[in-house]
Amino acid sequence: MEGRNTPGGGSDTAEADRYNGAVASARKIGRRPLSGPWRTHLSTDLVGEAPGTSVTLAGWVHHRRDHGGVIFLDLRDHEGLVQVVCDPSRPELFGRAERVRAEYVLSVRGALRPRPAGTENPRLATGRLEVLAESLEILNPSEPLPFALDESETGEGVRLRYRYLDLRRPEMQERLRLRARVAAALRRWLEARGFLEVETPMLTRATPEGARDFLVPCRLQPGTFYALPQSPQLYKQILMMSGVDRYYQIVRCFRDEDLRADRQPEFTQLDVETSFLDAEAITGLMEEMIRTVFHEVLGVALPDPFPRLAYDEVMARFGSDKPDLRNPLELTELTDWARGTSFQVFARAAARPDGRVAALRLPGGGELARTRIDTHTELARRHGLGGLAWIRVLDPERLPEGLQSPVVKFLSADELRTLLARTGARAGDLLYFAAETRAKVDQALDVLRQTLGRELGLGGEGWAPLWVTDFPMFAWNADERRWDAMHHPFTAPRVASPEELRADPGAVRAHAYDLVLNGYEVGGGSVRIHRSEIQAAVFDLLGLGREESEEKFGFLLEALRYGAPPHGGMAFGLDRLVMLMSGAANIREVIAFPKTQTGAEPLSRAPAPVPPADLAALGLRPLAPDSGPAREHGSS
Ligand code: AMO
Ligand code: AMP
Repeated sequence: MEGRNTPGGGSDTAEADRYNGAVASARKIGRRPLSGPWRTHLSTDLVGEAPGTSVTLAGWVHHRRDHGGVIFLDLRDHEGLVQVVCDPSRPELFGRAERVRAEYVLSVRGALRPRPAGTENPRLATGRLEVLAESLEILNPSEPLPFALDESETGEGVRLRYRYLDLRRPEMQERLRLRARVAAALRRWLEARGFLEVETPMLTRATPEGARDFLVPCRLQPGTFYALPQSPQLYKQILMMSGVDRYYQIVRCFRDEDLRADRQPEFTQLDVETSFLDAEAITGLMEEMIRTVFHEVLGVALPDPFPRLAYDEVMARFGSDKPDLRNPLELTELTDWARGTSFQVFARAAARPDGRVAALRLPGGGELARTRIDTHTELARRHGLGGLAWIRVLDPERLPEGLQSPVVKFLSADELRTLLARTGARAGDLLYFAAETRAKVDQALDVLRQTLGRELGLGGEGWAPLWVTDFPMFAWNADERRWDAMHHPFTAPRVASPEELRADPGAVRAHAYDLVLNGYEVGGGSVRIHRSEIQAAVFDLLGLGREESEEKFGFLLEALRYGAPPHGGMAFGLDRLVMLMSGAANIREVIAFPKTQTGAEPLSRAPAPVPPADLAALGLRPLAPDSGPAREHGSS
């Protein structure tokens, strides 16, 4: 099952097929279904045909060049481009060719011939051929385009508004194909291992994954609402309790949260759940799947095994639970050192129970201009630091004269010596220091590490997968003075009893894991709680009263009492994975019809107001004129 069917044919065709999986498989089935009244061949079919062959092609006018006397049309179909030559010796055809413009849809019949020497285009698969037109039919004209398809600077608003034009661009066609090939490869792999694809409801109850729900009013029971699933989490667990053993689904998830370059309100997961496997076995299986898909689709060999780091270690070394390991910069822990120092900014932060002092060493960074340091300080301020201390290391042997810094005067020679030893500083380095709460230090140094990585071009190439394991079970929510589940409330804590859980919730680790790729969280999962008394204790710690947890999750607690097997799983963000695999900088580039920053879908112009009568039928009243997102924000 795993083995690919290697496309046959010459090396040119093989190369094209590697990138045209869909086309290649269609061709294996036979070319007939792709021909019809308007075409006998696809553009890339022409490569194997003999000169003189009569062919009929259909597609869009990509370019039209009038070379005074001869008109050249680049005709584009979903596979590629081919040059069509229209000669004035056929006046009627030539007249029609003069009328065509960009994106006219044509059917052209003609004879294949080699291009004259010196006019070949090595960048096109069909660059050594052309078709001398014998007939030309305009199937549909096109209005002048709102943007040129091969222009790289077109604004995203226009691209999304005219997405059907945007998607015609070969680059976008390639992304659609890549996405389909990734999904197909995942399916093949899972099917071969006995995973069963099961669909779960879209109109359902809230599944807590940390975001706000999209609600759908239920007309048949006025005043009640379905929630669109944030994930199929509860249903897939119920499927394990139903004896399914191995489940998967490529499934849409909905989360009403603020958008970022790697986030959409509606996105796709590859969702997986298994019974009778522990975290080790599940992550091992998932790792093999990802490695296989990268190999099949991109020809890339990912490391075997993927490195694994515990949560505490990644936070200490990178200030982030999704570090890009291609970036070699690392943090140095200084909190214990700072506790005793004479520099108050450091000493005060280190004395706080939630404080942290850490350094980021930039080898050779001593060359960085003051203005750059100021920009970095500004960046750190925006991420919550009061400032950013720095030291330029000119000569680590001469203290303090060998150091250039606004803070050296606050530190003794002994303190400086330890500092340099700890950070491993050498002549020519720059050291940055952050002192604040742990959360702010981590955030600021993570951003700084990423920024420096980009600015200095440190290790942006290749693939760096990483398992992050041993997450804390809970995170303290200081605003609401309660524990939040770090993954979700169904994750198994590493405890044997509810008492152990309650003793020190902050110290409890979870059987949870994330897969990080090049600095993005591409997947996450956990072993689940399969004993109802532990599940009830977790709900209790999260501040869900007995009544509320019965109300919301009674069905789960009940199902856990009827012989639930140990189970666990994982979900991958398919959009994120494909974004990375295609080299796109934004998740919207790999979604056919994505949403904008304001949650709009510009092509169909969703969301849209609804007539009052439609609202009334749902038992809803129109919004009062002064209400809106601002008010809603304030109340959340
Ligand atoms: P989690 O919430 O970590 O886990 O989601 C799994 C993966 O889905 C992707 N993802 C997103 N992608 C695009 N836009 C979004 N708004 C978005 N939110 C999440 C990420 C993430 O790693 N039910 C659990 C999984 C489990 O425990 O099995 C879950 O949904 O790549
Ligand atoms: P100040 O005493 O506020 O003038 O700060 C002295 C130095 O410490 C300046 O270089 C500041 O940028 C730096 N600094 C201030 N606050 C912090 C902080 N939270 N973390 C790291 N450095 C800081």
